[in-house]
Amino acid sequence: MKEELSIDIIGLAGACSYALDCIEAELVNIKNKHGKRVAYISICMAEYWKIEGDELQDLAMCALLHDNALTQYISEELKKDSVINCKKDLSEKKTNLHCIYGEKNITKIPFKTDVSNVILYHHEHADGTGPFQKKWNEIPLFARIIHLADTIDIIGNNSWNFICQYILKNRDGLFDSECVNAFLHAFTHSESFMCLSDGSFETKLWEIIPRQKQVFDWKTCKNVADFFAKIVDYKSSFTSRHSIGVAEKAAFFAQYIGYDSINVQKMYLAGALHDIGKMAVGNEILEKPDKLTDDEFSKMKNHAGYTYLILSEVNDFEEIRDWAAFHHEKLNGEGYPFGKTAAELNEPERIMACIDIYQALTEDRPYKKGLSHEKTCEMLDDMAQKGFVDSDISKKIRECFGGI
Ligand SMILES: [Fe+2]
Ligand SMILES: [Fe+2]
Ligand SMILES: [Fe+2]
Ligand SMILES: [Fe+2]
Repeated sequence: MKEELSIDIIGLAGACSYALDCIEAELVNIKNKHGKRVAYISICMAEYWKIEGDELQDLAMCALLHDNALTQYISEELKKDSVINCKKDLSEKKTNLHCIYGEKNITKIPFKTDVSNVILYHHEHADGTGPFQKKWNEIPLFARIIHLADTIDIIGNNSWNFICQYILKNRDGLFDSECVNAFLHAFTHSESFMCLSDGSFETKLWEIIPRQKQVFDWKTCKNVADFFAKIVDYKSSFTSRHSIGVAEKAAFFAQYIGYDSINVQKMYLAGALHDIGKMAVGNEILEKPDKLTDDEFSKMKNHAGYTYLILSEVNDFEEIRDWAAFHHEKLNGEGYPFGKTAAELNEPERIMACIDIYQALTEDRPYKKGLSHEKTCEMLDDMAQKGFVDSDISKKIRECFGGI
């Protein structure tokens, strides 16, 4: 029987929602686990309509990834403005851009039901005063649910009375009556709302949404990987194709040395996700033109540890997590975040470290032109001699990418 790659995709979306929260926190005041709380509020509200099964799972997925295009929005539209201006802009018409980008991006995720226009309209108001001036009956239900859940969580006020008053005051304005009723049906008293602030909601979220794994063919795997890689790559314009480049080269190299198709796909996914932890590092560090101070450098180094932490949340993902997160480890034990030694680093992990360096050196950045294949291989060989990376892999990289 042909082995197939099966992935806990909803778990992966949940884990990566942490990365999206880091970005949203730069724009609006949100608390830790915002994406997951929006998902939890949404699925609790969904009970009002008896939404279940695949539909409920897809609602949770949309809620977890509701702001998947924020890095793209910031990168393309707001680069010139300060964060303070970003906060102002988010409440203005420009909001629609991250909805348009986000709607397009999410088509890469394999949904089981039709979720079109959910991300596009997740900021619409029931009375038609939102970014696209759609009235409540023109907006898909999931978008209306996510809008209410998102707004409630951004308010960040845990007083039950305050929240009730707020949504009742905005009935038929910001929110449609049905959604207001659904919210009041789901959260009937202050205790039912408390789990959102004490953290116990997360266990409940995964009880309601089973973490069923989904079988991925190559196209789906690539689409999902590209979706997450794009989010990371938009974080900094300095490295705008880095994750995709690492994914492509890791998979190409794995194929070159004879890995089977499952392992090639895993390498692509690991490559796409290897720097997801960078979402937790501020751009003032990622894009600092001068040499980083010791403190800044240690914050920068944290990104690999964050990749490890984020991907640890995904069920049965240990192998891909390690291939992704150990890319700054060195064979001589001087790498980070764990200081692993040669005996602890397997072949795919060693490959990822080399490919990350190869991609970083060959890619163009605003402040430097990418190095040639030859020069890059010389530097990799030098690193191999110093005991940083694997010399056999370094040699094979020279052969594999020499003809391109
Ligand atoms: Fe949004
Ligand atoms: Fe949000
Ligand atoms: Fe990295
Ligand atoms: Fe990297």
